Amino acid sequence: MFAKLLFYYFLTNLWVISTAAPLTPIKGPQTLSSTVLFEFPKGTWLENLVIRQTDGNALVTVLSAPEVLLISTTNEFRPITVATFPDAIGCLGIVELGHDVFYIVAGNWTAATGTSTLGSYSIWEIDLRNRGPKFAKTTKIVDLPGSGFLNGMTVLNPVAGILLVADSLNSAVWSVNVHTRDVAVAINDTSMAPMQYGTLPALGINGLHLLGSELYYDNTDKATLNKIPVDLNTGKATGPAVTLLQSTVTEIFPDDFTIDFEGNIWMTADLWGQLDLIPGAASTASTNASSKEDKSNTGWTAAKFGTKQEDLRRGSLYITTNGGPINYIYSNWTAGGALLRIDTVDLVL
Ligand SMILES: *[C@@H]1O[C@H](CO)[C@@H](O)[C@H](O)[C@H]1NC(C)=O
Ligand SMILES: *[C@@H]1O[C@H](CO)[C@@H](O)[C@H](O)[C@H]1NC(C)=O
Ligand SMILES: *[C@@H]1O[C@H](CO)[C@@H](O)[C@H](O)[C@H]1NC(C)=O
Ligand SMILES: *[C@@H]1O[C@H](CO)[C@@H](O)[C@H](O)[C@H]1NC(C)=O
Repeated sequence: MFAKLLFYYFLTNLWVISTAAPLTPIKGPQTLSSTVLFEFPKGTWLENLVIRQTDGNALVTVLSAPEVLLISTTNEFRPITVATFPDAIGCLGIVELGHDVFYIVAGNWTAATGTSTLGSYSIWEIDLRNRGPKFAKTTKIVDLPGSGFLNGMTVLNPVAGILLVADSLNSAVWSVNVHTRDVAVAINDTSMAPMQYGTLPALGINGLHLLGSELYYDNTDKATLNKIPVDLNTGKATGPAVTLLQSTVTEIFPDDFTIDFEGNIWMTADLWGQLDLIPGAASTASTNASSKEDKSNTGWTAAKFGTKQEDLRRGSLYITTNGGPINYIYSNWTAGGALLRIDTVDLVL
């Protein structure tokens, strides 16, 4: 099953870039196709993913149910439910910490109302070491009673076992040590705060990823991409936050993002079902790549690069979708959540 994705590539003077470097010339428009690997029933919200280190398949969190699924990136098997979580409505951020040990965020966020149950979030471990995917061992690591709405997650310090988790409601980044189970507010900065618009839920900091000792994060309501230098042992800020990209929610709608080997940022714009490419992350140009008119695979939530040989050759980016976030209010979806693939080497910049 193939779906066409219009891929526009251009600059806009609405986007304020923090550097004084000259903007690169306009090229395009560009067209890239997306391949649907698997589409679920309408109302299935795929929220986030990691590409599993041992086999290059996708471990995907579901937000409309408290589940984590293993989805083949080559259509070799049907999706497998790897883990389910009691006392939670859905799952959000996911990381792999060493081969086959995963951590996820579980909690109570209701898509139909866009509301979060304060303090309902916890971090769980999924251990797939020496086990088939149907026999995972799941363990609760810790509850976060002070959480507002936990969302994206990234690894801060793999040696000490410290993760960072975005709190989209309480304007913060939490640190969680999965070995000692210590939890702390690592950063609380106004660049992470939400500012609700109309029917849209309050969503501040959403995705976060570490590059060196800089923590990159976006803010959905403020339509920004930011970075802040952090201490790699505590996650605490060692300097001020810098806003790299300032847009509006009618242009972009930042959900999670991933950083490629050249430092380009590929950001999923949930509401618009589009992928925004920000070349060089902290440097020169900003672009948008869109399928706003395409209702067949809308609601793009997260993206990760594949690791199989053919993925490297194609520059394959795997994308989770929810089928359109606003449709959850009215139950009138036009598509189910899906795992898509886009081959980025087809984009000639
Ligand atoms: C979260 O939702 C689950 C499932 O509905 C429920 O069992 C649990 O009590 C809720 N947790 C909180 C803290 O409200
Ligand atoms: C961050 O600071 C804001 C403003 O003071 C506060 O409302 C929020 O609860 C804080 N977040 C956390 C996780 O403590
Ligand atoms: C991309 O953004 C520009 C303005 O920043 C807007 O005019 C254009 O419609 C957007 N492209 C698509 C396809 O949404
Ligand atoms: C879903 O319902 C809402 C409210 O009636 C409407 O605004 C929206 O256009 C509908 N979406 C679709 C895809 O039918």
